[in-house]
Amino acid sequence: MPEPLVPGAQPAPAPQPSPDEPSALLSPTSLQGAALVGCGSALPVASLSNGELIGLVDTSDEWIRSRTGIGARRVAGPGETVTSLAAEAAGAALAYAGWLPADVDLILLATSSPDDLFGTAPRVQAALGANRAVAFDLTAACSGFLFALITAAQYLRSGSFRRALVIGADQLSRWVDWEDRRTCVLFGDGAGAVALQACEAAADGVLAFRMHSDGSRNACLTLAQGEQQRPLVGQYSAQVGGFSPIRMNGQEVYKFAVREVPAVLAALLAHTGIAAADLDWLLLHQANQRILDAVADRFAMPPERVLSNLASYGNTSAATIPLMLDEAVRDGRIQPGHLIASSGFGAGLSWGGALLRWQGRPGLRMNATA
Ligand code: COA
Repeated sequence: MPEPLVPGAQPAPAPQPSPDEPSALLSPTSLQGAALVGCGSALPVASLSNGELIGLVDTSDEWIRSRTGIGARRVAGPGETVTSLAAEAAGAALAYAGWLPADVDLILLATSSPDDLFGTAPRVQAALGANRAVAFDLTAACSGFLFALITAAQYLRSGSFRRALVIGADQLSRWVDWEDRRTCVLFGDGAGAVALQACEAAADGVLAFRMHSDGSRNACLTLAQGEQQRPLVGQYSAQVGGFSPIRMNGQEVYKFAVREVPAVLAALLAHTGIAAADLDWLLLHQANQRILDAVADRFAMPPERVLSNLASYGNTSAATIPLMLDEAVRDGRIQPGHLIASSGFGAGLSWGGALLRWQGRPGLRMNATA
């Protein structure tokens, strides 16, 4: 029994969970898996080509394409925000899964560029009309979507929730230094989402996962709070809120990715006994084509089984994995039952991997909106 806050007062009886409330624990069932049953994505309208960047910084289409594989990136314009992109992507995932907004128990928004530092997920919840859902943000940079997917899967496996929308959305165009050619050419804006549903253990879509963090290498890639002070009164001052633009040690991040991503995927394959040859797709965070190629080489994955849309969208941070998934599901490359090795990596430093099985119903594919 907890101590009463007011001495002598009787503590209020613990509220009884109602089966209609999202946080109600379901009675133990065989629903100990999480199936990926829907996906969606959204992109800003404006597409900025490498050639158009030449007007901004000293670069060239040849340099950007040969070092990164990037040809263009989307940049959010007036009225396009993390909220609007995330809501559009999540709405499409909801429609794909055949759910109503009121069916959703949990909305997890992975983002490093929120519209509101207090949380952007509740704005997405309101835009969707998913009134029963609890909604909160999760920040792990470019690993954010994978971390959020794994987190949501734990709620479903434990029986706490039945249906979750997991969204990766970022608008890093707000935070790049448009005068720094080493970073501004890399990033773009976008959103992607997956609908995750509790299912029997045998149908689990998150077969295995690993998550890692190494804060000792945080300085390799930052979007950090600035250090400006504002005098208050007497000897007191307060820090002024505001973030410095993205700073990156590109070579260190590259070395980190080509070392850690193969290691985490190899650990997952060893753990599950699945051979690389049995994977249908390699779905990595889209940061650099050379990183995708290096990881694919390590597992002898042929290029046609390595998903990449870097040429069109660049690095959209938390959005890249669900954006790519949605594209490949809707164009029919990813089919129900396909086995996908996925890895997210980036600032933190953070990285992780998951072996996923896509279970969305193909019949909905053609009807779903983009
Ligand atoms: N256009 C033209 N030249 C550029 C340029 C650009 N956009 N950006 C950098 N350069 C120049 C540099 O100034 C440098 O010139 P210098 O030798 O005269 O100083 C030269 O190109 C080489 O720079 P370097 O940083 O060594 O290039 P690189 O081969 O390491 O490629 C990255 C740079 C960023 C493409 C590469 O390091 C990378 O992809 N790193 C991983 C980044 C990443 O994935 N980040 C996100 C993780 S989530």
